[in-house]
Amino acid sequence: MSLSIDNLYGLEGVPKADIDQILDTAFSFREVLERPVKKVPTLKGTTVVNLFFEPSTRTKNSFALAEKRLSADTVNFSAASSSLKKGESLKDTIQNLFAMKMDVVVMRHPTPGSVKMLGDFVDAVIINAGDGTHEHPTQALLDMMSIKEKFGKLEDLNITIVGDIKHSRVALSNIYGLKTMGANVMLCAPPTFLPAEVDSLGVEVTYDINEALEFADAVNVLRIQNERQGKGLIPSLREYRQTFGITRDRLEKLKKPITIMHPGPMNRQVEIDSEIADGENAIILDQVLNGVAIRMAVLFLLSGN
Ligand code: CP
Repeated sequence: MSLSIDNLYGLEGVPKADIDQILDTAFSFREVLERPVKKVPTLKGTTVVNLFFEPSTRTKNSFALAEKRLSADTVNFSAASSSLKKGESLKDTIQNLFAMKMDVVVMRHPTPGSVKMLGDFVDAVIINAGDGTHEHPTQALLDMMSIKEKFGKLEDLNITIVGDIKHSRVALSNIYGLKTMGANVMLCAPPTFLPAEVDSLGVEVTYDINEALEFADAVNVLRIQNERQGKGLIPSLREYRQTFGITRDRLEKLKKPITIMHPGPMNRQVEIDSEIADGENAIILDQVLNGVAIRMAVLFLLSGN
């Protein structure tokens, strides 16, 4: 039982057999998470360093918990309280950390491609926890696990992704992963929130939110990034909500219920209404729980197996 990949930089090019194996392993770790004692000795003796150069609530804590559940030794690095503040280069910082004999690195960084670059100069298993606007593979894996948990499959399902696709690492990893698993993907966003290369992604695109929701078995709603405001990409948050928001009125007009997902953090009453995010068709907190199981599976399969 092993993956064809040695590191998890992204889901682009990762074969279906690997994704199936990660999902199957994560479902068995979900059972561990339901036990009174939620811990297994699988990664005893393995040292994992968590390098977070950007804020995170879900991913950082989820990796930390997954490592504890697997009995790994962990080191948590925060850029804000490190010698980077004294002018030390990123390369020197990482080489010094690895001189202390780390086995696995989990890294989030604002620069696309930075996690892959790290793999060129350290001898360790590397896991991408989000690199800028590029990829966030463990988020897409937990999204796929949550969809599979709900529907029993991924193949032939219709999945809509709504929001700021252009600046979203979650969207890109979801597109790669879902297409590999045989799902049909539709993107819905204003033209300014679509990447220039959208035609090469092999997905359907619409600017009409009602068409996107009619298509969907599940809709993954992306955060409207406040840092993009004032850059002329959308006229206002109010207008975005009116045109693309996941609201009760919109969902009530559909002939079927659809499953509601969000990677977080959410802007309630902007991209999604509170009553929808907290409603019976939302699986947003299941996604968070599945995130721990997925990260246990990835850590186990890449390093402990
Ligand atoms: N979904 C996600 O990546 O959330 P965080 O930024 O809180 O980790």
